[in-house]
Order: sequence, then C-alpha cells, then structure tokens
Amino acid sequence: MKITLFKKFIALMVGIITLGINFFMGGYKPKEAEPLLTFAAISDVHITVDPARADMLALGLADMEDASHRLNALLFCGDNTDHGYRDQYNLLAQTVAKYDPADEIILAEGNHDTWTSSKDNDYDPAKALFIEYSKRISGRELTEAYFTTEINGYKFIVMASEYDHTDAYFSDAQLSWLDAELSAAATDGKPVFVISHWPLNGTHGLTKVWTLEETDPDTGGMGDQSDAVEAILKKYDNVFLISGHLHNGFSTALTQKLDPIFKYTDIETEGSFHSVNLPSYMYPATRGSNFNAQGCVFEVYADKVIVRGRNFAAGAWLPTHTATLALVK
Ligand SMILES: [Fe+2]
Repeated sequence: MKITLFKKFIALMVGIITLGINFFMGGYKPKEAEPLLTFAAISDVHITVDPARADMLALGLADMEDASHRLNALLFCGDNTDHGYRDQYNLLAQTVAKYDPADEIILAEGNHDTWTSSKDNDYDPAKALFIEYSKRISGRELTEAYFTTEINGYKFIVMASEYDHTDAYFSDAQLSWLDAELSAAATDGKPVFVISHWPLNGTHGLTKVWTLEETDPDTGGMGDQSDAVEAILKKYDNVFLISGHLHNGFSTALTQKLDPIFKYTDIETEGSFHSVNLPSYMYPATRGSNFNAQGCVFEVYADKVIVRGRNFAAGAWLPTHTATLALVK
C-alpha cells in the first residue's frame, strides 16, 4: 500500500516538473493559437450518375479526411445534385459515406436540387427528397429545407428556396425565422454563418457573371427578395453569408487586373458583414481562377475568421487566396 502511494507521489512530481520545464522552455502551446472552429465549404458539386463526378468529389473528401487539423464540419452549399433526382442523391450519399471528412456535415439546398419534378412549380417532391437525403448524409432530422445548427458554439443558419426556379423564393415565415435566429445568435462578438446557395443581387460581379449580355439586375442573385434578406443580414454584427451558384473561381489581384470590366471578387466586406461566394466544385470557372475541385477552409478565432482557398483534389492550399476577416466586439 505504501509502495503504491509512493509511486503515485513520484508520478505526480514528475508530471509537475515536466510541465514546468515545457512551459519555461517554450514547449507550452497556448490554446488560443488553435482555431475555435474549422470547417470546409464547397458548393455546386452537381452530382449526376456519372462516376467521374463522384470520383472528383471523392478526391476532395479523401483530402479532408487526411487533414492535419480535423474539420469540425463540411458544408455543401447547394446544387449538390444536378437535378435533385433520387439516383443522383444516392450516388452523392454513397460517395460521402465512404469517407470521414468532418465531425458534421451540413447540406444546403440549391436551385438544381429543386428540379426533381418535371412539372412547373412543383417544389414538394424536391423538398421531400432534400429532407430524406439530408438525414441520410448528415443525420439531421428536418421538417423544412431551411434550418439552423450549432457547432462548437457557433451558429449556422441554412436558408432554402421554397420553389423550383433558378432564383430563390423565401416565404414570410422563413424571413421572420431568419431575423429571429440572427437576433438570438448576435452575442459575444461571435460570427454567425448564414448559408444561402444564392448570393445577394448585385454582388460578386453580378449582374454580368454568366454571359456578357445579362442585364436583368436580379440575374444570378436571390431575386425579388434579395433586398429584404440583405436588410435582415446587415442589422447584425459579424454575419458571414456563404453562397455558391455563380460558378466563378477565386479572384486574386491578377484576375482582377485581367478583369477590369467586372472587377469580380469572391469575398466582399461591408462593415462587419462578409459575403463569401464559393466556386463550383465540379465545373471549371469562367471568371477568376478556373480550376475545379476548389473551395474554402474557414478557421474561426476569437477575434477573426481566416478563409483559406484550397484545391481539395490536388490537396493544395492556394496562398494567393487567403483572407483574414476581423470580428467586431
Ligand atoms: Fe450550380
């Protein structure tokens, strides 16, 4: 008995001495140096039944699984499928299930995911399939295609269009819900991440993004309710809107120099509001850097969010595309 106690005493002393040596020799790493939240965000994966598309996604999932810093979440920012068909969702689910890319997966709806039915204005089948596969892929029990979730104490608000058009329709109930969720989350200088497949009208090089001829101010954006959504988002501090839909690449100083007409930028900031537009994972871009398999890794700290561009298939960071966005208290 006495020998056991003596051993415990020696072990305790060795632990204290080792901790002290590490601290004074610089071996101690303050926790603050670690991100409080890390997540990958990709968009417009556009899975069909073509195995080549699933393979392209698989390359990225394998890269995420091998990350030196474990991802807390992986976000799919809409157009997860090319048409919202069951066989496309099946291939998406089977591909994701082969990997362990992150602790949690968030699936957001895009316009292509609403094209399940051959009939016009028939959103219900698309909503049902989205909810079914959101459960299968991410484990979330949803009643609406729009929802919130909290990861590491940070709130994610996921919006969804409630019809099957190229732009978005948000019901009054969803807009009230968005305002209420932001109001409830706006504390302590923490960022809140709002995911909408559709960017705000007139942002990120809109209206002329897909072709030179576009003149409709709503083309490519949310559409008629963009101003209403923008007014809600900008009422609060530290809101990050993460979107896709435009299929543009990352902008850099070089691409902006080469693109003097549109001055396309994928990250726009106004006060403490930040809008991040993700490239299409599956398609090379027509503007900005034009590789596919690209997306962002968000690192969240107490005072800032660092957004790092990454080519997930190549397993390479894109050092010309790193943004540090300060948080306000
Ligand atoms: Fe898309």
